[in-house]
Amino acid sequence: MTKPVTVTFTDLALDDIAGVAGRVAVFVTPDGKLDKPARRVNRLTKGALARMIEEGVLEDMKDGDVKTLAWPSGLAAKALDVVCLERNADALTARKAGVALGKLKEREPMLILASQLRRPVDVAQGIALRAYAFDDHKSDRKTDAPGDVTVMVANPETARAEAAPRLAVTEGVFMTRDLVSAPANHLTTTEFANRIKDMGDLGLKVTILEEADLEKHGMGCLLSVGQGSVSPSKVAVMEWMGGNKGDAPLALVGKGVVFDTGGISLKPAAGMEDMTMDMGGAGVVTGTMRALALRKAKANVVGLVGLVENMPSGNATRPGDVVTSMKGDTVEVINTDAEGRLVLADVMWYAQKTYKPAGMIDLATLTGAIIIGLGHENAGVFSNDDPICNKFLRAAEAEGEGAWRMPMGRAYDEMLKSQIADVKNVGGRAAGSITAAQFLQRFVTEGTPWIHLDIAGVASVKSDTPHAPKGASGWGVMALNRLVADHFEAD
Ligand code: BES
Ligand code: MN
Ligand code: ZN
Repeated sequence: MTKPVTVTFTDLALDDIAGVAGRVAVFVTPDGKLDKPARRVNRLTKGALARMIEEGVLEDMKDGDVKTLAWPSGLAAKALDVVCLERNADALTARKAGVALGKLKEREPMLILASQLRRPVDVAQGIALRAYAFDDHKSDRKTDAPGDVTVMVANPETARAEAAPRLAVTEGVFMTRDLVSAPANHLTTTEFANRIKDMGDLGLKVTILEEADLEKHGMGCLLSVGQGSVSPSKVAVMEWMGGNKGDAPLALVGKGVVFDTGGISLKPAAGMEDMTMDMGGAGVVTGTMRALALRKAKANVVGLVGLVENMPSGNATRPGDVVTSMKGDTVEVINTDAEGRLVLADVMWYAQKTYKPAGMIDLATLTGAIIIGLGHENAGVFSNDDPICNKFLRAAEAEGEGAWRMPMGRAYDEMLKSQIADVKNVGGRAAGSITAAQFLQRFVTEGTPWIHLDIAGVASVKSDTPHAPKGASGWGVMALNRLVADHFEAD
């Protein structure tokens, strides 16, 4: 797994600044005030900072922006990064400044002079979140020798305590990104299950349901998706019972289609390679479980992922086939490319029957239509319960992860009527993301608060996102972790 950069918090040591190698970052307020370490840097560089400010450089900088002075005289460092930031900036702005610094970081070490900042840990977290590269398959691996980050702060002990759970979450985000980035010939259903099994070391109870088990449970929908592939279908279950004994858990359910060709309803060639990220929902569930275990969350949470590959073959499901779900409802498969909902239907039903969860959240790269609706800025949020939905929306907002609620309703459900089965798996072109959500809701039991997150637009993005370089974003790990921390933890 890609490891986040090592961050060390130390006391301010002004006399060390001149001699450090790599990059040095100082903070300047939007109105041009220099703090103590910035004044020292200004003196060492014979007034370079003051000249920069006099020339009005700050005027076109926003809170959290960075300007770099290269090879500054008076410093051993190769770059001086000047960050425009209010000293009491809020968490997200401080993190944004960190992200800007993390973007500049390559293999060199970094010294962050943050002793006068209210939120140095958020800056550090921003650096760690952005300083990511998926180079498992590059001969020249940049992440083999990452330079460490040192943050000089007013109170190193407080900062260290605050940073520990953040590092856990960052590791969860990185696990998600690694999974989402992995090519499908490497990340097979078996390899995915193995990576989950390895998390047993963290205290998670991991169970893998194999095809024979899935058949016993009657998961005909899920199995119909994977039957065209030589990779066996699996359901992986991760239990983290860190809360009160006997309290019903929160269930997280993920779509884990390791590759989606569309099946017999084959997708066009152009861009099909992107469907290596179609296990994004399962990736977020896995990364979140990792974060919760690493920070030893006092909560009961169970993560379940349906791992399948959607391939065309002589043994694949045909359009028009009728399959039976674990719930017992029959489904007419009109389009084998609408496979995610088939996988989720059975895993969600299994989650509810097995755990009687206090709430259930499913995540899936479910529809192209959600990208048409919301682009890459927001995931689509669908829910049958306002209280849990609002809690999630607040958690996502606090973490800077875009999430936008979408409507549901009976009229949309009508669009899924089948002539020959209980339901069909597609509802037509109109409202494609909503009819997908309606399909899922048929597999939610009365009284279970449920959220469906359609993350097709946010799981992997072709340009930089607020916390990640282009590629897998890890969207959702931070929001779900915060939702658990704020609403599902025992005191
Ligand atoms: N995995 C896709 C959805 C998707 C599209 C994810 C683009 C990420 C980026 C899903 O399985 C799918 O193929 N959905 C179809 C549904 C249709 C057949 C009703 C779609 O969106 O076209
Ligand atoms: Mn599909
Ligand atoms: Zn899919």
